[in-house]
Amino acid sequence: KKVVLAYSGGLDTSAIIPWLKETYDNCEIVAFCADVGQGEAELEGLHEKAIASGASECHIVDLKEELVADYIYPTIATGAIYEGTYLLGTSMARPIIAKAQVEVARKVGADAVCHGCTGKGNDQVRFEGCFAALAPDLKVIAPWREWSMVSREDLLDYLAERNIKTTASATKIYSRDANAWHISHEGGELEDPWNEPSKEVWTMTVAPEDAPDEPEYVSVEMQAGRITKVNGEELTPYGALMALNEIAGAHGVGRIDITENRLVGMKSRGCYETPGGTVMFAALRAIEELVLDKSSREWREQVGAKMAHLVYDGRWFTPLCESLLGASQPLANLLNGEVVLKLYKGQAQAVKKRSPNSLYSEEFATFGEDEVYNQKDAEGFIRLYSLASRIRALNVK
Ligand code: ARG
Ligand code: SIN
Repeated sequence: KKVVLAYSGGLDTSAIIPWLKETYDNCEIVAFCADVGQGEAELEGLHEKAIASGASECHIVDLKEELVADYIYPTIATGAIYEGTYLLGTSMARPIIAKAQVEVARKVGADAVCHGCTGKGNDQVRFEGCFAALAPDLKVIAPWREWSMVSREDLLDYLAERNIKTTASATKIYSRDANAWHISHEGGELEDPWNEPSKEVWTMTVAPEDAPDEPEYVSVEMQAGRITKVNGEELTPYGALMALNEIAGAHGVGRIDITENRLVGMKSRGCYETPGGTVMFAALRAIEELVLDKSSREWREQVGAKMAHLVYDGRWFTPLCESLLGASQPLANLLNGEVVLKLYKGQAQAVKKRSPNSLYSEEFATFGEDEVYNQKDAEGFIRLYSLASRIRALNVK
């Protein structure tokens, strides 16, 4: 018996190691941690910690570039935004983490995978949905749905009884999930939607009211809907995201505070920060405005609306996902150009935009004479366009 555990070094997954051994026949535990850009602090000393907690090995897999290049960019090209505001930061990272976990399981010859998600959330569904698609033979263990512990105190007692050291404290107010794209904050006072989030909630952005009083301009260049340069500097996908996180975070860009519908039926309140991602979205939409004709834009919006639910609901490894990505890619391929954004007190506005594929023409949009648009043509167009309305109103049989 060998189990690959998605391990974060936090209290929950630390307690899971001894619990798995006791519950599953002294099985061998291989700790797995995905580096999705959650930051050095979370990864520091992780290997030693995992071994000290009783894991036999610890695999830390660097997924940062792949996350941005192969999961985030294809998703944002569809324009996917969940329930109007959520840029899907946690949701988009789940499939790549699950895939890497399965790869480790194959490498070490494990027969089970384990995660530390609660039985009340979306993440359990996302991970297990991916496991089902990629490795239906692996047993899935979800301790939070099995054990009777419910609080951090319970977990601390559990570890103390077994003389396992932990630096975790009983009071950790927020449940957080971080990666290169975003950080989520849930729990604590946020559980009451009548409470304004306290200053301590936010970690990736400054408060808009504390942001500089002078706006900052940032220029981005994109090729096929992917940011290739920030302020003229050529960067990798992950590098570009990091650069934009820093620039936009300093201006308080990318905060949202929402009450969302979870897949499992309940509502939850969360505060999310996506500074660089918010700028990327604004830049993409600005180029789209220049490049996509009306029907293409409408189609992209439909694909995006569908894609938002697909990603949120954890259905990445499905033919439907391939189909939606396939539908949006030819449109994304047109998104070349440059955008200058103005960052100021929590806002990112695309104030300048240009694209070699632009359909916008000052010459045609003007009210003066031009070559392609004859105003007299509009008369016939409108007559036919509104023909059904005319017939209905005239009521001729
Ligand atoms: N509610 C968001 C989502 O479902 C964030 C979830 C955060 N997950 C976590 N394990 N803290 O995508
Ligand atoms: C969890 O319950 O594990 C985190 C929240 C979520 O998955 O929605």
